[in-house]
Amino acid sequence: MEKRTILTTSTRGLLEDSFPYRLYQKAKRLGNWNPADIDFTQDQKDWKSMTVEQREDILRLISQFQAGEEAVTLDLLPLIMAIAKEGRLEEEMFLTTFLYEEAKHTEFFRLILNALGERGDLSHFHTETYQKIFYEILPTTMARLMTDQSPEAIAEASVVYNMFVEGVLAETGYFSFYNALETAGIMPGLLEGIGNLKRDESRHIGYGTFLLQRSICEHPHLFDFVAAKMGELTPLAIRLNQEGIAGRKVSAFGGNPDDIMNFTLKQLSVRMEILARAKGKKIEEIYSYSDSELGV
Ligand code: MN
Ligand code: FE2
Repeated sequence: MEKRTILTTSTRGLLEDSFPYRLYQKAKRLGNWNPADIDFTQDQKDWKSMTVEQREDILRLISQFQAGEEAVTLDLLPLIMAIAKEGRLEEEMFLTTFLYEEAKHTEFFRLILNALGERGDLSHFHTETYQKIFYEILPTTMARLMTDQSPEAIAEASVVYNMFVEGVLAETGYFSFYNALETAGIMPGLLEGIGNLKRDESRHIGYGTFLLQRSICEHPHLFDFVAAKMGELTPLAIRLNQEGIAGRKVSAFGGNPDDIMNFTLKQLSVRMEILARAKGKKIEEIYSYSDSELGV
C-alpha cells in the first residue's frame, strides 16, 4: 500500500475551478429531482386510449431504458474505484452523484411501468444486438477495471459507457420518446421524467468527454484507440435501430424511422468530433473547460 497523501489539508485544497468539481456542484443543484414525486395520472388515462401498436412502441422504448438504467447502475462501480485509486478526488466526488442518478433512473422507469399496470416480462424487447451490448459488452468492459486500471482499459470503459451507451443510444432513445409523445401531446409524466433524465445524462456524458480528453491529453496514442473502439461499436448502433424499426416505413405515431437512424448517425460523428478537440491541448485547458464547451 502506498503512503497516503491527503489533498484537502494540503496547500492544494480542492480544485474548485476544475471542470469535474464544477460538475459536482451542478449535480447537487440540478440532480435532486425525485422520481416518486412525478404524477402519472394523465399518463394512465392516455395509456388506455392509445392503439396496441402505439403501446408496443412505447413499451419497447421503456423496456430498453429500464434494462439499460439497471445495467449502468450495476456496472459503474469499477470505474469509480479506478478513479479513486488514482487519487482524483474531484472526479470521484462528481461520480458519487453519477451513481445516485442512475439509481433514480432505474427507479423512474419501474415506477411508470407500475403506474401503467405493465407488470409482465418485457425481455422479449431485448433483441440480439441489445443483448450483445447490455448483457455482454458493457458488463465485461466495466468489470475489467477491477483487475486492469491501465489508461487503455479506462478509455475503453468510458467509450462504451459514456460515449456509446449514454451519448449515442440513450440520446437516440430520448429523441424517439419526444418524437412520439410530444407530437401526440400525451404521457406528460413520462416526458417530465425523460426531461430530468436527459439533463442528468448531459452531465454524465460531459464527464465522460472530460475523462477521455484528459486521458488523450496524458497519453496521445489513445485518440486512435478511442476512434477505433467507436468504429467497432458503430454497426451495433445501426443494427439496434433496424431491429426496433423491423422494416416498418412509418412508426405507430406517424413518424419516419429514418429520422431516428439519422439522429443516431449524427450522434456517432458528433461524439468523435468533440473528442478530437483534445488533440494538441494542454492539460490545464482541459481542466478549465466551461460547462457549455462539454455540452453540460
Ligand atoms: Mn441514466
Ligand atoms: Fe448516465
